[in-house]
This record gives sequence, C-alpha cells and structure tokens, in this order.
Amino acid sequence: MTASHTALQDAAQLFAELTGDRPEGIWSSAGRANLIGEHTDYNEGFVLPFAIQYRTYAAARIRQDGVLRVASTFAPGAVELPVAELVSTFGGSAGAAVASRAVPEWAAYPLGVAWAALTAAGRSEADVPGVDIAIASDVPVGAGLSSSAAIEGSVAAALNDLWRLDLAPLDLAKAGRRAENEAVGAPTGIMDQVSSIMGRADAATFLDCRTLETRSVDLGLEREGLVLLAIDTRVEHAHASGGYRDRRAACERGAAALGVPSLRDVTGADLDRARDLLDDVTFRRVRHIVTENQRVLDTVAALAAAGPRAIGELLVASHASMRDDFEISVPELDTAVEAALEAGAIGARMTGGGFGGSAVALVEASAVDAVADAAVRAFADRGYTAPHAFTVLPSEGARRDS
Ligand code: GLA
Repeated sequence: MTASHTALQDAAQLFAELTGDRPEGIWSSAGRANLIGEHTDYNEGFVLPFAIQYRTYAAARIRQDGVLRVASTFAPGAVELPVAELVSTFGGSAGAAVASRAVPEWAAYPLGVAWAALTAAGRSEADVPGVDIAIASDVPVGAGLSSSAAIEGSVAAALNDLWRLDLAPLDLAKAGRRAENEAVGAPTGIMDQVSSIMGRADAATFLDCRTLETRSVDLGLEREGLVLLAIDTRVEHAHASGGYRDRRAACERGAAALGVPSLRDVTGADLDRARDLLDDVTFRRVRHIVTENQRVLDTVAALAAAGPRAIGELLVASHASMRDDFEISVPELDTAVEAALEAGAIGARMTGGGFGGSAVALVEASAVDAVADAAVRAFADRGYTAPHAFTVLPSEGARRDS
C-alpha cells in the first residue's frame, strides 16, 4: 500500500467519524518542490516548480443546512461556519478572522478557499449548499513542501465540483492564493498553488507570474536515470513571519527606487545603475531576483536543449544567490547542499521560502543512498538533528480520486 493510499483512507475515515456517512467524493492536490525560481513569484517573475507524489485529500459531501464544516487530521475538533457568513468573516482586512480568533488558523485555509472560490465564480452565498469536508494528508508538514497549497488545492477542487462553480485550474490556484493572502494573512505569491494544482508527471510547471501563463516542461528524469532527492533539514520555517515579509518589502522598495512596477522589469543590464541607487542590502535582494529570473529561463532552455544533466550549475548558482544575496538560507540548508554536491549530486539548492525546510538535489538514481547518507553524516558531524532524505517524484496536480 502506498503512503498516499493511506492518507486517502484517513480522509474517508475522518469523514465517517464526522458525519456517520460516506463522502460523495474524495479530491486531492499535491505538495510541491521548486526546481528553481525562488521569491520571484511575487516579483512577477518566473518559476519552475513541480508537484510531488505526497498529497492532501479532501473527502466531502453536501449538507442541507447551509453550514460548512471542516475537520482535519492536523487538529482536533471540527470548525463550523454558515456559508452565509463567509463574506463577513473573510472579506475584511487580511488575516483579521485569524487574528481575532474567529477562525482557528488551520481552518482559515479550507474556509478561506470556500470564500475565495465562491467569490471568484461570481456566485452568492445564498446560491450554494453547506458542505462537510474532512482533510488528511501525507505531505510532510514544516518541510517547505507546501502542505498548505495542497490543502487549498484539494478543497478548491472539491468545492468546484460540489458547488458546480465551473472554475478553471488557474482560477482554483488564484482562489488558493487569495485564501492564503487574505483569509490566513500570509503574503505569499502564487507559485505553490499553481504547482500543486497544475502539476504533471515527470514534468515541472513553468509559470510566468506576470501573465500567469503556464507551460508544462518535460524533465526527462526517468529517461535519464535521474532522481530528485529532498533533504528536509527539519528546521521549521514560518511563512507569515518576519523573514518572508522583509524580503518582500525589500523587493518592493528596490522596484520603487528603480522606478519600475516590479523587479520583473529589471534586467542584468540595469544592475550597475541599481548598485549606485540602492543601499547594499536592497541591491543584493534585487540582484537575487534579477539573476534568478534569468536562471529560470536558462534552466528551461537547458532542459530542452540538453536534458536534466545540463542544469546542475544553475541549481548551484541559485543556492549561492539565496545564501549570499537574498540571505534566506540557514547553515543546515547549506550543509545539505554542500554534502549532496560532495557526494556527487549533479546540482542542489534549497527550495521554497527559506529559513529552514528542504533542499533538493538532482542525483543519479544509483547515487541516491550515497547522497542521503552523506547528508546524514554531515549533519551528525555538526551536531544538527538528523535530516530526512526522500525522493520527490514530479507528479500530477489536483484530481478527483473517488
Ligand atoms: C513560499 C511562498 C511562494 C514563494 C516561495 C519562495 O513557498 O508560498 O509563493 O514566494 O515561498 O519562492
């Protein structure tokens, strides 16, 4: 039995405990890892993430009393909110429902998605019935692999069907981001939701975060006998907290000082002028975004021209830029990347928001154990808590499972 099969059953079982009934269906969406393109999404730049085989499942069924009820294996107890109160609960200032404790934070993800999806579809609260939703997941939490986007994607897919909202996958991703930004109050970009919902097997999703155009990019890992290994440092990251907000603010400051709407509009040729205009820290934040955007484009080109073995240096350069210019790495992530490279990985970099979470390494299938062991040894040498290393398989995004 695969791990994801268990999470699906957990969702069905939790649903049965909640309602004494069977769900009408079970929907799921994937966790994600980012191959390259970090912190570029909210700068209207480019990203190249992929959905992974770990998934979150939402077992759901319509109920007749107009109440939304959500339960999750993440937290004890169910949370109820009348559909008629979605707009008044989440339509105010960002994160207010959570800050005022009207809704526990974990429940703001699924309930916020209900609000955002309903609004996106232009439907009114009176138009749709209540729903029971039970959520279970095997996406590692706190590993920087977007367990939250997987929740959003699974619930969005469920409500899209049950409420007949007729939203396209990209609209579901937007609803997920809106829930995260406005209901939960975390100022993230749209990469995670697009990746979770729109992923394909053995492919990454190239996303232009300005136009929101997506393209599935063949990774060719299977063909080439390569594997992506996640090394979870088990250092906890906290999105809504300081570091992410600070970086976002620095990027906005840089764009304003350079007189452009977003850092998407700055190119390598502008960096000399940027160095003159900006203080050192802001300049390095800007340089990371500008060079990272170019590395994403170069990665897509290298994959097409020469296959996955050709992207190692780009991954390594991306990590160096995050470590030195954007300053979002931590010693554990640097150790994971260095150990992986010393043990023969083709490339490696931290993935996700930073300040902890996971690194990803591109390795020969035959070298997976050697690279994982090297990371474990390097952590032990430095007295760090042992990391978890596991392969991440580029997988399909949101779907109905039953
Ligand atoms: C988090 C956010 C994303 C993105 C990454 C950094 O995962 O949710 O929107 O900004 O960090 O690339």
